[in-house]
Amino acid sequence: MATRNILKIGDETLRKISKPVTKFDKGLWELLDDMRETMYKNDGAGLAGPQVGVLKRIIVMDVNNMYFELINPEIVESSGEDISKEGCLSVGGIQEYVKRPRRVTVKGQDRYGYDITITGEKFLARCICHEVDHLNGILFVDKIEKEYKEG
Ligand code: NI
Repeated sequence: MATRNILKIGDETLRKISKPVTKFDKGLWELLDDMRETMYKNDGAGLAGPQVGVLKRIIVMDVNNMYFELINPEIVESSGEDISKEGCLSVGGIQEYVKRPRRVTVKGQDRYGYDITITGEKFLARCICHEVDHLNGILFVDKIEKEYKEG
């Protein structure tokens, strides 16, 4: 296992569309292990392939001390609305309000290629949406609620 460099906003790779994973092999498992280590080392709640320079549809997350990894994630259901602050390891130093669904269901595969479905609310839902956006070249700064004030 090794930690990898996290690309920062301004790097073109972060704006590209990631490709689906088709091989669930040792190379994928090493990448996932590295992404997990990199996320924890940087105190993040999630990390997506493009952030470590790999344009593959892979995300890892840690929400409420639960670790998730998801390959080829696809949001199949979303409902409600939640505006909270979020940040990103590729966008240092700022946290801004972003509107996300309150609840989402995402389908994908685990590291062995088996289908999995995760339903999350609030922060987990936010995290899933944020990481899936990365796979489509979207950063949270594209979605800031500029007019929103707390209370
Ligand atoms: Ni991010």
